[in-house]
Amino acid sequence: MKHWIVESDVDNNKSYPQIVDAAKVLQQNEVVAFPTETVYGLGANAKSDCAVEKIFEAKGRPSDNPLIVHISNRDQLEGLVAEVPEDAASLIDAFWPGPLTIIFKNKKNVFSEKVTAGLPTVGIRMPDHPVALAIIEASGLPIAAPSANRSGKPSPTTAQHVIDDLEDRIAGVVDGGETGVGVESTVVDCTGPSPIILRPGGVTKEQLEEVVGKVEVDPSLKEGKGAPKSPGMKYTHYAPDAPVYLVDGTRADLQKLVDIKKEEGLRVGVLTTEEFVNDFQADVILSVGRREDLSTVAQNLYDTLRTFNRSNVDIIFSEMFPEEGVGLAIMNRLQKAAGYRVMKG
Ligand code: TXA
Ligand code: MG
Repeated sequence: MKHWIVESDVDNNKSYPQIVDAAKVLQQNEVVAFPTETVYGLGANAKSDCAVEKIFEAKGRPSDNPLIVHISNRDQLEGLVAEVPEDAASLIDAFWPGPLTIIFKNKKNVFSEKVTAGLPTVGIRMPDHPVALAIIEASGLPIAAPSANRSGKPSPTTAQHVIDDLEDRIAGVVDGGETGVGVESTVVDCTGPSPIILRPGGVTKEQLEEVVGKVEVDPSLKEGKGAPKSPGMKYTHYAPDAPVYLVDGTRADLQKLVDIKKEEGLRVGVLTTEEFVNDFQADVILSVGRREDLSTVAQNLYDTLRTFNRSNVDIIFSEMFPEEGVGLAIMNRLQKAAGYRVMKG
């Protein structure tokens, strides 16, 4: 596997041999991981069946879960989708490049059918990361890219996470340092009468509403029941090896649960925050960020879940977060990591 190292702030007016090389590998219909502003993506030529097939193979991803197509230029869009509705155009003006994926109606014979998993729609985004934009631009292709993790694992926020999951399964990784946002893009369906959030992410519901008015969240996300409109949301995801339990209660409630499991002889982990990190006694206590700035929690969430795997805990108890701003995405990922198990204090 190739490992290209680039600075995270490449200048898009210059040419970098690492990026030229990575783009060539993409043109040869191989898969290459690269950083975006959210998480590392596993890219392939979105027009090629055989290239896209390699993504599903490397990740072990179910074939009914469609991929997001990444572009580097707003002007590419018209050639790729059936229409750009008015709300979508406003959202693009406000948030591209950025962590927002928009679902459009398909145009026939543009992408490999494997990208859309047979749906009449396709998700497209323009990432806000100079390395991602440079690679897409240099390849001259629309790039299908899911998160570059093995299916079911926490998404990768560093090149090392990608290597841990996919070494020898992919052609290469472009290492541009740690990603910034830490949770994936918000997926918004703009094919209906009004936009619906299918997956909360880096652009918040509140930010979307400032641009297009009231935005609904796909109700099936809440309880983890019913069929979500975004196929990927139905799978177990983001899960560390040990079971995670969210604790809806006080710190004392959480500590009580830890004590019970310790008495049973288990090795217990606690996922907490800077503010409370000294308030617990457990085998492994990890702070995921600062409660007063939830963007720090988003940024560290997946790395923290992965760190629990290296610390051999038997069970993890986690604090919960307010579902406001990026907290909505954080709680969505934590609920999925926990298989929707919540313990009341
Ligand atoms: O931030 C991100 O979006 C990252 C980076 C690499 O760009 N990518 C990412 O891709 O998270 P992935 O494949 O891990 O998640 C894509 C999500 C899945 O939940 C999938 O079901 C949904 O988007 N999706 C893709 N196309 C869709 C479509 N046509 N209709 C509904 N949901 C779709
Ligand atoms: Mg993913």
